[in-house]
Amino acid sequence: MPTIKPKKTTTTPVRPRTVPRKAATAAATPGRTRRATSRRVPWEHLGHPSSAVIVTGAASGIGRASAVHLAEAGRPVAFWDLDEKAAKAAAKEAKAAWKVPTVGLGIDVTASAALPAAIKASTKAVGQIGGLVHAAGVSGPLQITEMDDESWDGVLDVNLRAAAILTKLLAPELEKAGAGSAIVYISSIEAFFGHDFLPAYASSKAGLLGLTRSACATLGPKGIRVNSVCPGAVETPMLQPMLDIEGIREGLELKTPLLRLAQPDDIAKVVRFLLSDEARFVTGTQLVVDGGLTAISGI
Ligand SMILES: NC(=O)c1ccc[n+]([C@@H]2O[C@H](COP(=O)([O-])OP(=O)(O)OC[C@H]3O[C@@H](n4cnc5c(N)ncnc54)[C@H](O)[C@@H]3O)[C@@H](O)[C@H]2O)c1
Repeated sequence: MPTIKPKKTTTTPVRPRTVPRKAATAAATPGRTRRATSRRVPWEHLGHPSSAVIVTGAASGIGRASAVHLAEAGRPVAFWDLDEKAAKAAAKEAKAAWKVPTVGLGIDVTASAALPAAIKASTKAVGQIGGLVHAAGVSGPLQITEMDDESWDGVLDVNLRAAAILTKLLAPELEKAGAGSAIVYISSIEAFFGHDFLPAYASSKAGLLGLTRSACATLGPKGIRVNSVCPGAVETPMLQPMLDIEGIREGLELKTPLLRLAQPDDIAKVVRFLLSDEARFVTGTQLVVDGGLTAISGI
């Protein structure tokens, strides 16, 4: 029987001597630059870069939960919302719980001219921005036969136009942040289904999927991933008026294979995944998070 001699191992350094060992290791493992510590912390398993994330609609529901989950993953977070007081309170709470830089700002995402200053203020407060979650949204229920310019724009401006403008404004920042930069839009299963009372909302959410695919083409070569999450029925203030109608909650629960509505945390965990290095080859697509609702029916 032939014997196999073990190969001699070489000790020749493969890394150019001009690059300090610490810097080379950091470059090979994006996101591990800030915490060169032997203490094992939970977010080391979550593969996140160290750059900050702007989360819109962060005072409530899905936006708030996403911002808090990102803070838990070690990301500095700028909490943006129309409701300044609630945004500041949520940011303060996340900072106390997860010991990361946070800031809460009162921002109207439809005020395009004010957004560059808001980005600047966020960068100053929490550091280089390397992520965006656009969760700010309104539903504006109105049948198409009642629609006017103002009602249509009121929904499309928040849900879709703001996502596009913020993407444009943040692209240079995200490119500068480098490896691991990513964007997540909160779309909806209404992107796939019509709804009598939600023509503007459904159009805006379908539009986000078009934006996702188009922006991924432009931003991919710059190292920026773009994806959407499509939640089903999530228990938040937005859905509450519908849930208050007798029988709606029970009907939705029965139609959902997992037999319950989503909680904001159910969506936040998927948002956090898409912003992490675990999703490093995922771009230009959407993840439906609806407990199986659309697998067997609509909402
Ligand atoms: N709740 C659901 O069942 C559900 C399902 C699918 C998708 N979504 C989407 O998830 C996102 C979050 O919704 P939610 O259910 O958490 O609702 P929510 O009402 O709890 O939160 C929405 C937040 O957006 C903020 N906002 C609204 N307009 C804004 C503006 N112009 N500028 C800045 N902030 C603004 C609100 O102040 C609020 O804090 C929305 O885009 C919504 O369409 C929700």
